[in-house]
Amino acid sequence: MSTTPVALVTGASGDIGAAIAKTLGNHGWHVIGTYVGAADAAAATVAAIINTGGSAEAMQLDQRDPAAIDAIIEAIGANHGRLDVLVNNAAWNIGIPFRRLEDLDADIWDRVLETNLRAPFLLARAAADLLKAGDGGHIVNISSAGGISPGSSSIAYSSSKAGLNHLTRCLAVAMSPEVAVNCIAPGLVENTRMAQRLPDNVAQGARQTAVLGRVGQADDIANQTLTFVQSTSITGQIMVIDGGMPGAMR
Ligand SMILES: NC(=O)c1ccc[n+]([C@@H]2O[C@H](COP(=O)([O-])OP(=O)(O)OC[C@H]3O[C@@H](n4cnc5c(N)ncnc54)[C@H](OP(=O)(O)O)[C@@H]3O)[C@@H](O)[C@H]2O)c1
Repeated sequence: MSTTPVALVTGASGDIGAAIAKTLGNHGWHVIGTYVGAADAAAATVAAIINTGGSAEAMQLDQRDPAAIDAIIEAIGANHGRLDVLVNNAAWNIGIPFRRLEDLDADIWDRVLETNLRAPFLLARAAADLLKAGDGGHIVNISSAGGISPGSSSIAYSSSKAGLNHLTRCLAVAMSPEVAVNCIAPGLVENTRMAQRLPDNVAQGARQTAVLGRVGQADDIANQTLTFVQSTSITGQIMVIDGGMPGAMR
């Protein structure tokens, strides 16, 4: 069994996943960062971690495929003998204004829900034995402020993230006492491609409504992930990082 704690970060080819992977990689975790198509971006994340003295590897995962989820967890068990942290960060979205109900068809609904909600559950289920076997496992789910108040890229995305918020609480109960399960719900995160895919009025509205006068950065999400996985007494919590949007202050 590896003596270095191991973290699986899904979507490490993306903007926020890369920031989370680098932060964990710089704080002593061996990071396994997944991608679905962007192998070069995942390789850049891995290279950045290794160049600063950490250890990391990239693995391909299409998390809409339940068999692929079981296979990657099995491979981690075989290769490392442990898994200490699972960060369910990967997600898929497409901009469909809420009022255009007819544009949100069943295929888009399924793709969003399978990627953003079913996969985090299947990953947690597959990883449960490894996470429980260590001395304090952690899951951090990355949802969205759109899962708290109705907004963001589409009704499907907002609903998937609301489901992920509640899945966090359910898993915190189901996987206790060995595993802590927490969630970060970002609002608009500046300088990310996902934010650029939001309808303009949604992105501009977030900036204008935030009471701090600014929204979050990828490093804010990464630093909160680190705080969760270093804690021994926080579970079932959803931390909103959005610059203070009144609609998400619950
Ligand atoms: N950016 C924001 O403003 C914002 C706001 C609120 C919440 N969030 C949440 O923060 C998280 C990260 O967002 P981001 O901005 O970093 O997004 P991003 O840059 O678009 O990255 C998305 C990641 O998910 C991966 N992915 C997509 N479909 C997948 C699939 N079927 N199987 C496995 N991986 C898949 C992508 O892989 P490839 O690169 O290989 O395609 C990529 O690594 C997401 O959960 C998102 O919902 C973001």
